[in-house]
Amino acid sequence: MSDPTPDVVVEPDAEHLARAVAEALVARLAAAQAVRGTASVVLTGGGMGTAVLEQVADVAAEPVRETVDWTAVEVWWGDERFVPADSDDRNEKGARQALLDRVGVPPERVHAMPPSDAGFAEPEDAAAWYAGQLAGAAQPGEDVPRFDVLLLGLGPEGHVASIFPASPAVRDERPVFAVRDCPKPPPTRVSLGFSAINAADEVWLVVSGDEKAPAVAEALAGADPVQLPGAGVHGTRATRWLLDRAAAGALPAAG
Ligand code: 6PG
Repeated sequence: MSDPTPDVVVEPDAEHLARAVAEALVARLAAAQAVRGTASVVLTGGGMGTAVLEQVADVAAEPVRETVDWTAVEVWWGDERFVPADSDDRNEKGARQALLDRVGVPPERVHAMPPSDAGFAEPEDAAAWYAGQLAGAAQPGEDVPRFDVLLLGLGPEGHVASIFPASPAVRDERPVFAVRDCPKPPPTRVSLGFSAINAADEVWLVVSGDEKAPAVAEALAGADPVQLPGAGVHGTRATRWLLDRAAAGALPAAG
């Protein structure tokens, strides 16, 4: 597997960043559909993840843009909070409101990680079910299907998805697993692991704010992924760090 040098893109602020990522995502999904007829995206939660999806819905409505057939987009998640389906903490809920319901992605293509009230007593059961969904959509012998773009946020201490620094998740080689005792609430989650994330064609880290600047700089300088999980993710074809000026503030070139 290749490990290409990351691209770094810096936008003036969070609003411009969300817009630029949305335009790039629409173009990337349209290009994938032009080649294969379908496209797939892995969504993230967090403030920037949702802001990007709101912008995608706006961009998708513009007639001058490349056209994405939203009935032929597979939607997966990088992580999810193990809370009831109607909780505002659900990444799925935010994504549906911001984009999926607006553009009409068919229910069978929206592969949400289970909430806590869907019949899975423990998050481990929910993770095992999701592993089956991923494997069922994958080529024979693979754990996960093709992901054209996998979106990630970055925590100020360097977490990605729900892989937190120095937690068991950093050494877990399964494609998807339960995560307990997360320092960022809510504490119980389901997350893709490094093996699944790093199987994506393109991994895009979308990061805004000066509180993230040290983690961004350390990740790009090659920090230990055990201590800074954001340093351990990459796409097989491209790894893109999409930053606002504040998040880029500790990079050598910006200093
Ligand atoms: C989650 C996210 C998480 C998030 C980062 C950044 O479920 O909480 O998937 O990994 O992307 O914490 O979040 P912000 O953009 O809100 O800072």
